[in-house]
Amino acid sequence: MKIAISGKGGVGKTTIASDLIRHLAGRGFSVYAVDADPDVSLGTALGVPDEELLDQTPLIDLKEVISEKMGDGALYPLNPRVDDVLDRYALDFKGIKLLRMGGVKAGGAACYCRENSFLKAVVDSLVLDRDEVVVMDMGAGIEHLTRGTARGVDAMLVITEPTPISVRTAKVIGKLAGELGIERVRYVGNKVRTDRERRFLEESFAPGELWAVLPYDEEMLEGSLEGGGSTPAKGQVAERVAAIADRLVAESRAGAATKSS
Ligand SMILES: Nc1ncnc2c1ncn2[C@@H]1O[C@H](COP(=O)(O)OP(=O)(O)OP(=O)(O)O)[C@@H](O)[C@H]1O
Ligand SMILES: [Mg+2]
Repeated sequence: MKIAISGKGGVGKTTIASDLIRHLAGRGFSVYAVDADPDVSLGTALGVPDEELLDQTPLIDLKEVISEKMGDGALYPLNPRVDDVLDRYALDFKGIKLLRMGGVKAGGAACYCRENSFLKAVVDSLVLDRDEVVVMDMGAGIEHLTRGTARGVDAMLVITEPTPISVRTAKVIGKLAGELGIERVRYVGNKVRTDRERRFLEESFAPGELWAVLPYDEEMLEGSLEGGGSTPAKGQVAERVAAIADRLVAESRAGAATKSS
């Protein structure tokens, strides 16, 4: 099962991604955590020490490997063999395998199609059996979606705060995800403080689109002020994220059963 997590800046993607990862690892899944954010936030949220994180070269900066796999000519292979890249560059932390993609390189005269194809090949090479899961923290905004690395994910969770601007971005992302062929786009409200905010979210989406509404948790803010990053969710937030994880697993198994029958 491959899950991507997206949404406007600061809505709680990394917090929710790391919580999903912890929950799924705790349930015995072998989890690949893919950080598509330019900084090291997912690793930090998972509790990986900074020295280890900063030691890991982002995939996009593996110039020699990219050149070896993709060649240097004008044309490059669409399906390069990259299965060894995972073993060599994934950081193992308590059984969770962490990969950092590195910053989106785009725009200007340079084309990073080759690099982006390489990243996509690495993500595609994660061909999974039923006990393996990939959770990708896509970082903020929509640039990452144009990389194509999210193509082929089974489900995308789009996180939104209860504000019109956050919801608008969530819907733009959801639409793009649909255009990329991602069938299951699910919205999750986060940092909801009042009934009014909850109703605003419920009214913003079609029935069934909004999977969960997570409350604003004062303790989490405190924790991140002290620790300098996202902190593990507790209480209701953790419970609801666990429920989301279980629902994703159930849906993915039901989908797999339909496909094989
Ligand atoms: N339900 C919540 N209640 C309170 N604080 C929260 C909640 N969810 C996330 N936060 C806090 O909001 C901040 C941003 O969260 P996080 O880093 O997960 O967002 P993000 O979407 O990954 O941000 P970015 O776009 O910068 O990657 C963090 O300080 C985090 O602890
Ligand atoms: Mg983040």
